[in-house]
Amino acid sequence: MTKDQINVAVQTRVKQLVSQLNEHSYRYYVLSQPTISDAQYDELFRELQALENQHPDLIRSDSPTQRVGGAPLGGFKTVRHRIPMLSLDNAMNETELAEFDEQVRRFLSKEGVELDEVEYTVEFKFDGVAVSLAYENGMLAQGATRGDGSTGEDVTANVRTIKAIPLKLRADPELLGTIEIRGEVLFRKKEFDALNEERVARGEESFANPRNAASGSLRQLDPRETARRPLWFFAYGVGVIESDDPRVATLASAPLLEAMHSVESLGFSISPGFRIVKGVRQLIAAYKKAEDERESLPFEVDGLVVKINDVKLQERLGFRQRSPRWAIAAKFKPVEAVTVLEDIIIQVGRTGALTPVACLRPVRVGGVVVSRATLHNQDEIERKGILIGDSVVVRRQGDVIPAVVAPVTASRSGHERKFVFPTSCPECDALVERVPGEAVIRCPNANCPAKLYNRLIHYASRDAMDIEGLGDKMVALLLEHDAVTDVPSLYDVTAERLRALPRMGELSSQNLVTRIAESKQRPLDRFIFALGIRHVGTKTASVLARYCKSVERFLELSEEELCEIEEIGPETARSVAEFLNSDQERYIVTELLRHGVQPAQIVVDSSKVSRLAGQTFVLTGTFASMSRKDAEGKIEEFGGKVSSSVSKKTSFVVVGDSPGSKLEAAKKHGVAVISEEDLLAMLR
Ligand code: IVH
Repeated sequence: MTKDQINVAVQTRVKQLVSQLNEHSYRYYVLSQPTISDAQYDELFRELQALENQHPDLIRSDSPTQRVGGAPLGGFKTVRHRIPMLSLDNAMNETELAEFDEQVRRFLSKEGVELDEVEYTVEFKFDGVAVSLAYENGMLAQGATRGDGSTGEDVTANVRTIKAIPLKLRADPELLGTIEIRGEVLFRKKEFDALNEERVARGEESFANPRNAASGSLRQLDPRETARRPLWFFAYGVGVIESDDPRVATLASAPLLEAMHSVESLGFSISPGFRIVKGVRQLIAAYKKAEDERESLPFEVDGLVVKINDVKLQERLGFRQRSPRWAIAAKFKPVEAVTVLEDIIIQVGRTGALTPVACLRPVRVGGVVVSRATLHNQDEIERKGILIGDSVVVRRQGDVIPAVVAPVTASRSGHERKFVFPTSCPECDALVERVPGEAVIRCPNANCPAKLYNRLIHYASRDAMDIEGLGDKMVALLLEHDAVTDVPSLYDVTAERLRALPRMGELSSQNLVTRIAESKQRPLDRFIFALGIRHVGTKTASVLARYCKSVERFLELSEEELCEIEEIGPETARSVAEFLNSDQERYIVTELLRHGVQPAQIVVDSSKVSRLAGQTFVLTGTFASMSRKDAEGKIEEFGGKVSSSVSKKTSFVVVGDSPGSKLEAAKKHGVAVISEEDLLAMLR
């Protein structure tokens, strides 16, 4: 084959892979009917990635590899909504819903349209964040938040990471013109729970509900962070439609049911159960049915949205100040119950955070018996004015941890008492500390038994040192019998000692000792994660491991150097530095090493390492021969450092195609500017 023929063949394959992968993504995220396994998907994805690496000019903007691109943003641009994003009026119960139907018919009757039964569409009211997605000639061009309805924020880079949002509309040939799709970005219950669990494990505060989590995730300045959050999208309407294509005619003018089916055919999910009902009786029945279905849905909904199906009638009805007269949100009753707050206890977590927990007289909330609820922190208790002995409103949202909403002050007897937050740790009596600017109160004692318990569980957990058989029950047993006194002493435990514990047999004792010994050789990233440093999850641990390559180097890190590492934020840098500056923590790490823990080092070729040692690089623009990530990897492999911002400490700014403001910054700081070629020469 000639060079040209090869090029054509590669181009065809790239196009084919992009379209196959997008189709599989659609089947998975929109239709929930995958036809290939995850492994098969990954294989195709890697093939595409490899081809794109070799031929960067063939990278298409709808390629699934391009869902995360570019560097963190300094802030969001504002976007003006050409058609405002309105809100909906609420109906709080069946009576108010029936009143809505009456008002609609009365209004239309004045217009000369007499109807006994109005045709409505019904769909769920999603509890997420509203976004608008603009497609230009079939390609996703802009994603914006609702904001105040007239202007929102440009979150294009973040919405691109959401797999249920097509990068290209499903239409062949592509749809010319502008098509704006509107809908809701949300978290599903199970992924929300997992996210919160992960955050708690990292010593971070959990999100109060899936809506806050969705909103926080969508407004991350670093799209890579959004990409880690499994967000979903449901379309519920259209905005600006400017296209001569007959295929989109239905979007703007057909009855809503057909328009939404067109939206669906363009590659979006719409509300499950989206359908037509006729007249008030069917409408009320649909409302009741939807409320019954609520619990079983995989995501949070807080009502049923009712819209008039006929667009002509919609136009006649028009708008009020901020909401259409042709639609209403029939809200569901919140899943709440009133019970007595019998006591408040304090739980001490792995990082020493003291969390107040409400002990409730058991009560049924939305089908589940609740006896404990989180009170988050002291400020929260004070803000809500909650007293022990109060009758309190408890709310549960789906699978979310129940929360105490407010006290019922009218039912106070005068015997209620104020909760006094302890000044010492309930587990070890150490004086607690409140970090200025944080709501969390902590026990500073590294030997606190509650901390030790949680630390041991974390150390042995699957993503950390992965010691099978060392779960919460086993850890409790070991501590109860003083078989371990700190994390390093795990490695002193013998099979004989274990056998002396209740319910421990010969074989299980031997097995556990073997598993503990095996953990000595785990890779460095797992070891760093296992240390249980605040804000250091698996991802950060792996960044640190890649950067340090050895425990010794890790122990030398200063806060300043940590701040220089790309992907490590200031809060994390501070927390790691605090850990490394603590004598108690350092003692634990050195003791672990003395006990034979030897985290597998990351192998480096020393002839390469010295090449760029001591040099800091900042990259800007796109490179012809490699991706930014590869360039960063190469520089690090050769001992150089990569930073995201230019300062006078920067050695070189490497400039690719269409460079950003870093080039200006380089000039300002008098930093040497080099090309991609120059960089390659340094590496050669
Ligand atoms: S339609 C003009 N449909 O509710 C009508 N909105 O209070 C525009 N929402 O900001 C909205 N689910 O974020 C519509 N199925 C649904 C919805 C929905 C949730 C949100 C939306 C909007 C708010 C209106």
